[in-house]
Amino acid sequence: MDFNRDVEISREEEGVISVLSPPSMGTMQIAGSNGFGHSIEFMSQAYTTNQEGNSEIIIEEEYLSTNQDGLLPIFLKFEDVTFKVRSIPASSKNPVKVMMSKVASQLHMDGEHYKPILKGITGSIGPGEILALMGPSGSGKTTLLKILGGRLHENVKGTVTYNDIAYNPALKRRIGFVTQDDLLLPQLTVEETLVFAAFLRLPSNMSKQQKYVRVDMIIKELGLERCRSTRIGGAFVKGISGGERKRTSIGYEILVDPSLLLLDEPTSGLDSTSANRLLRILQGIAKAGRTIITTIHQPSSRMFHMFDKLLLISEGYPVYYGKARESMQYFSSLRFVPEIAMNPAEFLLDLTTGQVNDISLPEDLRTPRGSLEFEKDIIKYLQLKFKVAIEPKEKASHRVTKAPEHLQSAVQVKKDWTMTWWDQFFILSKRTFKERCRDYFDKLRLVQALGVAILLGLLWWKSTTGTEAQLRDQVKFLKPVEIL
Ligand SMILES: Nc1ncnc2c1ncn2[C@@H]1O[C@H](COP(=O)(O)OP(=O)(O)O)[C@@H](O)[C@H]1O
Ligand SMILES: [Mg+2]
Repeated sequence: MDFNRDVEISREEEGVISVLSPPSMGTMQIAGSNGFGHSIEFMSQAYTTNQEGNSEIIIEEEYLSTNQDGLLPIFLKFEDVTFKVRSIPASSKNPVKVMMSKVASQLHMDGEHYKPILKGITGSIGPGEILALMGPSGSGKTTLLKILGGRLHENVKGTVTYNDIAYNPALKRRIGFVTQDDLLLPQLTVEETLVFAAFLRLPSNMSKQQKYVRVDMIIKELGLERCRSTRIGGAFVKGISGGERKRTSIGYEILVDPSLLLLDEPTSGLDSTSANRLLRILQGIAKAGRTIITTIHQPSSRMFHMFDKLLLISEGYPVYYGKARESMQYFSSLRFVPEIAMNPAEFLLDLTTGQVNDISLPEDLRTPRGSLEFEKDIIKYLQLKFKVAIEPKEKASHRVTKAPEHLQSAVQVKKDWTMTWWDQFFILSKRTFKERCRDYFDKLRLVQALGVAILLGLLWWKSTTGTEAQLRDQVKFLKPVEIL
């Protein structure tokens, strides 16, 4: 594999049209000889809004047609999702007690020691949309994302369906998950990272050339051209910037054309321009017919308006679910109104933590400001309103909307990219070899090794081994060598 070569085949020649280009209403054709050829028909009535303003998905008959290897639209519904973790009381100093409680929990004897993390979350999302999960740290966003991505099953209750079908292993290849902490190899360049991923994860019926073209296309679409030959970098290696790193992680996932893309705090640690750019890219990815769910922390108001739907979580309970742009309207209908100009995201996060300085409150909220229970009561109030005003409508819409049968059966069909064990072994060995070689032959490491060698050499320099005592001294010098 020659990673540094330029891919000369133009996109037109290959017949590849950007996967990220927005579809027009009517029919969107994403054709290509790269194995990703697919055709999606978007009906103009795909998404409608009901009278109350809550978003609702209406799936028309003949909504779309897609071939087996193409981009399969996924309608995700989740209802009353709860999750709890077994908590072992760590306060006890008595080791026997701790051991007993551990054994009891292993044997499922202590039904009492469970800590609820998610307490009944309901919502839905369809292709072409971005759902933002917002809430204070520890509210359960990452946990929900893992459940929706099929990465967490134990102690999860409620229903999560993909085109009205429960999770099955075939979905694994249709779901992309960009975790908060990426696992990119620091010594490989951006292009090499994507090329190795392409060779490992793309279907074996695609030619080498097609895989290179696909990598080239992803690099261009994600704006990674400037850093394509730069190393990823890490704690000790200088490399690409934070935004570029996030985009590379996203590229790694969208390489295999997932229908559902989940991202955990993709903008954390980025400056507002990079974060904005990243969200624009996500918008493009969604518009091509993908379903995107992302957790987000403190978005700017410009970013906030890029989300289609918003799920606001507070201490594991939902407090708002619906269109992002209608969230302020909803809270003002409850009489929570900002008294000074505020970024909507800041306002919403303040509400979820119960810190409502500079926010006017509804009259039926009895607890006076400043009392001990005040913040808790605000959160309880919002949770109650959600149960009454939003949840029943969403559940009703789940019942009336059903995915057409061909989509239901399509999510159960495994996407084929079988690669032999030997091929995988060969590619992984090559990747590890390249990575390790660069690491070991790093200039800094060579200087370090040379320095240590000279230092150790000096320990024995001009030493004699005439007597037994001198010999013992020499052996003692081996101790630091062992340590190093
Ligand atoms: N496996 C687990 N064991 C114990 N506690 C957990 C586990 N998973 C999540 N939690 C707890 O659940 C809460 C929510 O976590 P998380 O979903 O990561 O929150 P967020 O992503 O919103 O910051 C946190 O208080 C965390 O400590
Ligand atoms: Mg998190």
